[in-house]
Amino acid sequence: MTDALFSPAYLRDPHPALRALREDGPVHRAVLPTRLPVWVVVDHEAAKAVLADERVAKDHRRLGEIMSAKLEAAGGDPRLSALYRGNMLVMDPPDHTRLRKLLAKDFTGRRVEQLRPRVERLTADLLDAMPSDVEVDLVEHFAFPLPMTVICELLGVPESGRAPMRTWSQHLMGEAGAAAALTASGEITSYLTELIAAKRADPGDDLLSALTRASDDGDRLTEAELLGTCLLLVVAGHETTAGLIGSAAEWLLRDERTRARLVEDPDLIPRAVDELLRLTSPVSLTTARFTKAPVRVGGTTIPEGEVVLVSLPAANRDPARFADPDTFDADRPTGHLAFGHGLHFCIGAPLARLEGEIALRHLLARFPRYTGTVPADDLQPRRSLTVTGWRALPVVLDPAR
Ligand code: HEM
Repeated sequence: MTDALFSPAYLRDPHPALRALREDGPVHRAVLPTRLPVWVVVDHEAAKAVLADERVAKDHRRLGEIMSAKLEAAGGDPRLSALYRGNMLVMDPPDHTRLRKLLAKDFTGRRVEQLRPRVERLTADLLDAMPSDVEVDLVEHFAFPLPMTVICELLGVPESGRAPMRTWSQHLMGEAGAAAALTASGEITSYLTELIAAKRADPGDDLLSALTRASDDGDRLTEAELLGTCLLLVVAGHETTAGLIGSAAEWLLRDERTRARLVEDPDLIPRAVDELLRLTSPVSLTTARFTKAPVRVGGTTIPEGEVVLVSLPAANRDPARFADPDTFDADRPTGHLAFGHGLHFCIGAPLARLEGEIALRHLLARFPRYTGTVPADDLQPRRSLTVTGWRALPVVLDPAR
């Protein structure tokens, strides 16, 4: 049954396959297209249990070894495991705690709220720059540039670096195949290494300069960790949020009732963003973890040394947790796992929510009648197993003009 996972039909709409799997049980074996054999968790309760279980760990060195051995045994490319490099997302405590602490203060709700005026300005400028009476791609000109500009400004990545960054990042998400992912990993590493050297020579008032200082001032952050953190922030900071904005805009094209409600009552938008996070799950699979011991979850015992992934779209539409899970309901209690759970819960969640809220509020206020120009069935999904969303969303913003 896991054959249906990761097929073209799955990328377009993963829910029929995930529903069938969930009905068959909470935990399944599957083989990723890279040939990596994994265990996939598909129900909400088991997902939370796995993500909070210390025996289901990261420890990037061991995880790297386990993954390359499994890839090699299955005829895949063992070098792919090297994409898991020194950042907090692939670490356990105490390293994880140390790295997360360095960033935590920059991403609190209060700190992020200070970015509001700048995010409002960028959003308004992007909408101003788009023609409103002819077809325009909302993904290319709105959903991507907004979070990309925000995270690059925060980090201090110059404007000239943003276009190549977008391509490298897409390749790292697997959208152009395994070889392209490896090449992109090398190229983005060289770029960031040079940028870090430039910040050292001439620091600015940005996060990358601050992290570089933290690395130089003591043993808080090694050079490899500095690079890994920067890479993680650029990629995680825009791919996911772009997916959210594009998928939310597409959802509201089809769900006219919800759109009308949000246009009429914009105060509902923050809650709507959370419900859209649940429904669209911008991250489709968590990063890999491995079992440090046999772990019993959802009635299945996963042996030691196995790779475990959680399907967030599956958990987020589990009918045992969310009544009528495929419909939009801004009033339902939250509890979705779109930002993960446990130690690695998304550090950027307040920023992502802020960007999602501002993007939708401006879009709906300015262009409440934006219309799709391509039938929903012809939209192309992104070709990634990690992030969801549309490659393009052609619309006319103001069809009445
Ligand atoms: C971790 C989702 C936006 C930075 C995560 C995880 C998920 C996630 C599911 C945990 C993965 C795992 O456990 O394997 C999302 C979604 C976003 C979003 C859906 C947007 C809608 C952002 C933004 C940033 C960011 C804007 C930029 C600051 C991170 C970092 C981690 C992370 C640094 C690692 C945290 C850790 O390991 O402790 N995100 N994210 N994310 N996210 Fe996000």
